[in-house]
Amino acid sequence: MADLNPKPWSQTSIVGKGIPRIDGPERLRGVTCYALDMDVPNMLYAATLRCPHAHARVVKVDLSKAREMPGVRAILSDADKEAQIPWYPTEGPTPRALSRLFDAHCRHQGEEIAVVAAETQFQAWDAVRAIQVEYEKLPFVTTMEDAAKPGAPAVHEGGNRAAPPSVYTRGDVAKGFAEADVVVEETYRTSCELHSSQEVHGCVAQWDGDLLTLWDSTQSPFDIQQGVAESLRMPLSKVRVAGRYGAGFGSKLDPSKYHLAAALLARKTGRPVKYFLTREEDYLCVGNRPAHSMKLKAGVKKDGTLVAFEMTAAGEVGAYPAGAEAGGMLRELYTCPNVKITEDQFFINAGQNRAFRAPGYPQCAWALEQTMDTLAEKIGMDPVEFRLKNVAMVCQTEPDQPYTSNGLPQCLSEGAKAFGWKEARERAKDQGPVVRGVGVASGMWGFLAPPHATVIVKYFQDGSANLNMGSADIGTGQRTVMAQIVAEELDVPMANIEVENADTQTTQFADGASGSRSVMITGPAVRAACLDVKSKLLEAAAEQLQIFVGDLKFENGEISGPAGTPRTPVRQLRFMRQQGVVVGVGVRAPHPAGKSIRPFCTHFAEIEVNRRTGEIRVLRMLAAHDSGRVMNLATYSNQVIGGLTMGIGFAMTEQRVLDAGTGRMLNANFHDYKIPTAKDVPAELAVLPIDPHDEEVNSTGTKGIGEPALIPAAAAIANAFYHATGVRATVAPITPASVINLLNQGRKQG
Ligand code: MOS
Repeated sequence: MADLNPKPWSQTSIVGKGIPRIDGPERLRGVTCYALDMDVPNMLYAATLRCPHAHARVVKVDLSKAREMPGVRAILSDADKEAQIPWYPTEGPTPRALSRLFDAHCRHQGEEIAVVAAETQFQAWDAVRAIQVEYEKLPFVTTMEDAAKPGAPAVHEGGNRAAPPSVYTRGDVAKGFAEADVVVEETYRTSCELHSSQEVHGCVAQWDGDLLTLWDSTQSPFDIQQGVAESLRMPLSKVRVAGRYGAGFGSKLDPSKYHLAAALLARKTGRPVKYFLTREEDYLCVGNRPAHSMKLKAGVKKDGTLVAFEMTAAGEVGAYPAGAEAGGMLRELYTCPNVKITEDQFFINAGQNRAFRAPGYPQCAWALEQTMDTLAEKIGMDPVEFRLKNVAMVCQTEPDQPYTSNGLPQCLSEGAKAFGWKEARERAKDQGPVVRGVGVASGMWGFLAPPHATVIVKYFQDGSANLNMGSADIGTGQRTVMAQIVAEELDVPMANIEVENADTQTTQFADGASGSRSVMITGPAVRAACLDVKSKLLEAAAEQLQIFVGDLKFENGEISGPAGTPRTPVRQLRFMRQQGVVVGVGVRAPHPAGKSIRPFCTHFAEIEVNRRTGEIRVLRMLAAHDSGRVMNLATYSNQVIGGLTMGIGFAMTEQRVLDAGTGRMLNANFHDYKIPTAKDVPAELAVLPIDPHDEEVNSTGTKGIGEPALIPAAAAIANAFYHATGVRATVAPITPASVINLLNQGRKQG
């Protein structure tokens, strides 16, 4: 048997190149079919009536007028027996549902009251407006600080604690602080951010007999399949979820209510149903990054040795919990013997938090990396040198587990060199209204579950290939990267590879596109499938040519033997003539035992602060990343540039604003919720890949780039702000108004 999981390539000719995306031209021409573009014959459109209040009880719903509106074919509400589906399970050993598909107790603005299916979108919305509802308004809370107070309005019976406090400890922090020469303490706060995926959430549902098909904008077709099958008590084989294109940052990993409502309405009407949310609904109802408050105390010795970290954090989960913790990176990034992290999570009357690009990590970086900056200053060390001194080469949470690789020292030192750190740090800050500063921050990404992927590669007699994999390409360019692996192994030109992916009916099982792991999970399975093809070809050739298989080679569509023997084109193999195709199967091998796998990174930022207007301009950034091997320099750079851009939003503009008077969200639209635009993002975003040549991580040598690309970006900007102004901005985003408060009025930011 051939080894399908060899060491990573020592040399490559296709893998690593910045090859343009195989689906780039179609995407640019607008002919790719996203779920939102999916129109099927005889389709109905769905629209939702949502609770307009932050907290209310539905006393009465009258659908009679709405039912008579033109074009209405069905309305789904709590009155329907089939809609009694438990929703929002709690976490922990004995999960219970906190709500139902339609629940008379509405705990945030936007909770679902009824969904209408009608012949046109306009008729569906007209009917929604004809539904008459009587609400009993309830008192509400919009901040976790208020939610934690005794006597606060209860989002759920039993109080506003969304989970019991979690405590992580190692060593003894009291002893650590006693040994410290310098101890600092500060409270940092980050804001609730919205995913703002370009494609809104939604799907098209269709029944063919008892087979349900959902064309979905999803990161994880197999998770949607599983969740929908469970809720509707159907076998997995009868639920097809297909989502070849579509994008998400964590809010499209598991089923949402629209999946179920679309399926039920399609069954009720016997017609396909298209159900997409509006941008406003997208902002209110399908997820966000929770706001965090993090009190961080840190102790260091004069020589720069970290001795203790103590964090008390609270996360604002919204009305339903989805896990809001921020301590992960603090446990691991730096060597520190004494660490204590206490985390709380509180309900408020607002939409549920959900996984969002590196859940918890950018928040942690905001607190930790600013603290590292402060400590460095207090002991008179350069911030880069200080970090270098404390890089952990052995996983701090699993002390016996070395990392398969850790390129953080190179990220810091080579990044500093490429950025011109020393020079930029020493250059005059300018006097007058505009001051300049540079900052640095590091990060790591720590999510890793056991990997699952099965891949099939079909190699045809003309030397072309079909790659069949379950993984969704959420805009990262994964389909291209995977095709490069096929091209590398089987010498198939990129143009002759067809990639079929993300369809639970026609492709093989794969973990969802989450945790920055798609390439590192499915990539090795693709390579294994190619090696299986190769091995089958060689075995068939050995039998036919009567040559020892070990003496045969497969290259460019031909089998060659020892010197002097003729070359045999694959299509002339008897096996190929009989079968027409060679089918290779690759299964993802487990992670290496006893090792930790982490990507690492360091970001540098240079900014200007206008002390008169409070405006911040990011002049340039550089991101040095150890994500293992770069599979495609173009898609890799895209991820990093996207991450830095999102970091600029985190640092400077993005926040959900809830009105204290009504509890309603004031900026549930692209105009008022400010994601960075071309005017906010500098042209100079430099990408510096650090490849530690990880031989152990998997057969491709790659670790994942999507989330690391965001993690320390905002903290680097905050540190640059401190360098420019001498004032610490502890609250994200650092808006012009908060800058003015900080600098001119001497008030505390916030
Ligand atoms: Mo990501 S938050 O794992 O989609």
